[in-house]
Amino acid sequence: MAVGVFDSGLGGLTVHKAIAARMPELPLVYYGDNAHAPYGVRDADDIFALTCKGVERLWDEGCDLVILACNTASAAALRRMQETWLPPGKRVLGVFVPLIEALTERQWGDNSPPREVAVKHVALFATPATVASRAFQRELAFRAIGVDVEAQPCAGVVDAIEQGDELLAEALVASHVEALRRRMPHPQAAILGCTHYPLMQAAFQQALGPDVAVYSQASLVAESLADYLQRRPEFVGPGRRPAFLTTGDPVKVSGKATQFLRQVISFQSA
Ligand code: DGL
Repeated sequence: MAVGVFDSGLGGLTVHKAIAARMPELPLVYYGDNAHAPYGVRDADDIFALTCKGVERLWDEGCDLVILACNTASAAALRRMQETWLPPGKRVLGVFVPLIEALTERQWGDNSPPREVAVKHVALFATPATVASRAFQRELAFRAIGVDVEAQPCAGVVDAIEQGDELLAEALVASHVEALRRRMPHPQAAILGCTHYPLMQAAFQQALGPDVAVYSQASLVAESLADYLQRRPEFVGPGRRPAFLTTGDPVKVSGKATQFLRQVISFQSA
């Protein structure tokens, strides 16, 4: 009974950690495609092909349900996977919807028409591919009206994290927040729309100031997965063995994961 967690690299570990805390008895198999990160500068076909490959590898580990703990893959590939590729008996879920449901104060699965919500000015920080897809705005428009979204493509941040360069990542976060503030001086809420960014949450909060509510996905995704598995227990796959798999160098990736998550994590080759 294992569930798969997929990301282009280290970012999905933020989601993995929250799921493990919420459901400690559920075996999780993590797949980081570190050899091909960042996805955020790739085109949609490329992201689709790499994501399908990673998800198939997780099926081999007995994970019938895979969480795409990657906004870039969720934005650029998920819909195409669900419509054209996914065989019966398998499920792939993204990370966008739980976040938007929280922002728009909805219960899971509430499909009522879009309505006015409290938050009016939202800053979205995400990878260039996620921003270009406009997937966030599309999902938001199904649920809320009158919300002004200003999106900032945060080039370089994922790369700096994958390289283990925290100082560079912090400097880039500060400059991306400044760039966004030139277009939206007073956001009420900020969305960290990339699972790598919670690793830099303190830098985002510091640059944005204490009055901006920063939403990150990890705990929201964990809650919505717990709810999903209660309703659809048949999607807990036959796998039993938790693991961390990477397409990169397992020793280097383990070192960086341990550095950013502040806990020992051992990867093996995917
Ligand atoms: N962490 C991923 C996301 O949530 C991917 C970032 C990347 O590989 O560019 O978007």
